Amino acid sequence: MNQSQSGKRKILVAVAWPYASGPRHIGHVAGFGVPSDTFARYHRLRGNDVLMVSGTDEHGTPVMVAADALGESPRETADRFSRLIREDLYALGLSYDLFTRTTTPNHYRVVQDLFRTLYEKGYIVEQETLGAFSASTGHTLPDRYIEGTCPICGYDGARGDQCDNCGNQLDPADLIEPRSKVDGTPPVFRQTKHLFIDLPALRDELTAWIEAQKHWRPNVRRFSLNFAKELKPRPMTRDLDWGVPIPVEGYEDDPDKRIYVWFDAVIGYLSAAIEWATVTGDPDAWRAWWQNEDAEHVYFMGKDNIVFHTVIWPSILIGYRDDGEFGAGRGPLELPDTVASSEFLTMEGKKFSSSRGVQILIHDFLSRYDPDALRYFLSIAGPETQDTDFTWAEFVRRNNDELVATWGNLVNRTLRSAYKNFGAVPEPGPLTAADEAFLAEVEHGFDVVGSLIEETRFKNALQEIMRLAALGNVYVAEQAPWALLEPDRERAGTVLYVALRAIDNIKTLISPYLPFSAQRLHELLGYEGLIAGPLELRTVENGEGGEHVVITGDYSQGTGRWEPSALPPGQTLLEPQPLYVKLDPDVVVADELERMEAAAAAA
Ligand code: MF3
Ligand code: ZN
Repeated sequence: MNQSQSGKRKILVAVAWPYASGPRHIGHVAGFGVPSDTFARYHRLRGNDVLMVSGTDEHGTPVMVAADALGESPRETADRFSRLIREDLYALGLSYDLFTRTTTPNHYRVVQDLFRTLYEKGYIVEQETLGAFSASTGHTLPDRYIEGTCPICGYDGARGDQCDNCGNQLDPADLIEPRSKVDGTPPVFRQTKHLFIDLPALRDELTAWIEAQKHWRPNVRRFSLNFAKELKPRPMTRDLDWGVPIPVEGYEDDPDKRIYVWFDAVIGYLSAAIEWATVTGDPDAWRAWWQNEDAEHVYFMGKDNIVFHTVIWPSILIGYRDDGEFGAGRGPLELPDTVASSEFLTMEGKKFSSSRGVQILIHDFLSRYDPDALRYFLSIAGPETQDTDFTWAEFVRRNNDELVATWGNLVNRTLRSAYKNFGAVPEPGPLTAADEAFLAEVEHGFDVVGSLIEETRFKNALQEIMRLAALGNVYVAEQAPWALLEPDRERAGTVLYVALRAIDNIKTLISPYLPFSAQRLHELLGYEGLIAGPLELRTVENGEGGEHVVITGDYSQGTGRWEPSALPPGQTLLEPQPLYVKLDPDVVVADELERMEAAAAAA
């Protein structure tokens, strides 16, 4: 897109930050976790400079509500779930360059710099507003935590921001008989002063920029343009005591006002890059992604986050330019290039919701199944372009009929025969036209699959890889190397060599999706070293005497390359082990019933 395909591209992979308000379920990683990791791993194999950042989103109402329910402080809740989430994402192999937290001193400094700079430039202004407060806690009650009867259609489950029945935008004060969704009490409305971002002042630049994003999905672009037409100032502070302090006179010492969680969270993409640079010992390294027109910024999120990434965050970036401490006059901060938003994953027909027992926690899932089994399912059957239902039956079917029976089977039968009869990669004789055609088709996959992944069409790309695996089974069945061993050992060796090389190619193609089993296969094929550098959970100092744990990794250690296999004949093979486990549907159902009973008992 920006630089020539051959040069090294700088790619920021910016992944939505999960709230540290509870353990995360598979719906959360379906939408943006696994796709963003596949994207990052692919680009690293291509030799591009990837910076993949995210962290836990720890401020605001979601964490405060969870803390109240647990009878502990927001900080305790944030600590607890930040750790759980981090460990889950690590176990899934999500290869962040930095997965950090929004409660670090670095994050506070960057957020305050942006806030202060926008204020000094006149883009953040004070306004009086009628605010809704919880009668029980005195804290701000966000619009979507207020429920009542819609004044337009009479639907009694309308939310403070909109009515899902008639689709109209609402104000909490419009609702008839409003009540808090947290504890059912009616909210109290009173005048309060807040600092608003003056979006109308940024409208022209913002609209021109959105207009120019012709490559966005039409619905994302249209939705954002419509939103930009009706821009009003939006409050960026809240009446809460949990959040980043407001660096403006008259606010900074007020213990009951804090920066709005969405203002601080989106800035995490920048602050995490800055923290990453500090951790790697080259404090300015982040600028190569953030103050470089040629860098590509690709964002991954669920569809309910779009407006924050196409309107609010770009407005902050446009308003800030490079005028604060971190911008340092070294060039405007980059705006998003690609916004890859996913739809929702429902569970056996019910919407995934953290509050009900229907969700499957990542941790529970991984205690029973391999991470690659989950990654495969979410990549081939996830909510990439439409809401999608998770069913255990479909999970078992995809695992058994596709992962095990197509790809796993090709690997297994080929490796077994080669190992048993040759013990090493056989020395091939002359290749036939059929051999050449098959290998060419598989190698063409590097172009086809690569282009699809670059377009964030992960499902189509994986379907193409599976088509090549199926083709491999056809090739092996037709050539039947095992029948050739007696009459023509050289030809049998050639066929096995061709099949092994195809497998070696498919291994690379599939490794961004299934990094664990691809690495095991790499070793069975007799290679040493890692396709991709290892993830690491590392404790880092925060510069103020404290420390926190991050996911990071030295991914430059990876030896994998997005290029056709040069499998060396004679390379010693290891004794084959199955890459995937075939699941018994009855056992899967029994395990799931047990999980649900345990969840019900705990509730
Ligand atoms: N925590 C938000 C959610 O779960 C996502 C925040 S994305 C960020 O919906 F950009 F703000 F970080
Ligand atoms: Zn309505």
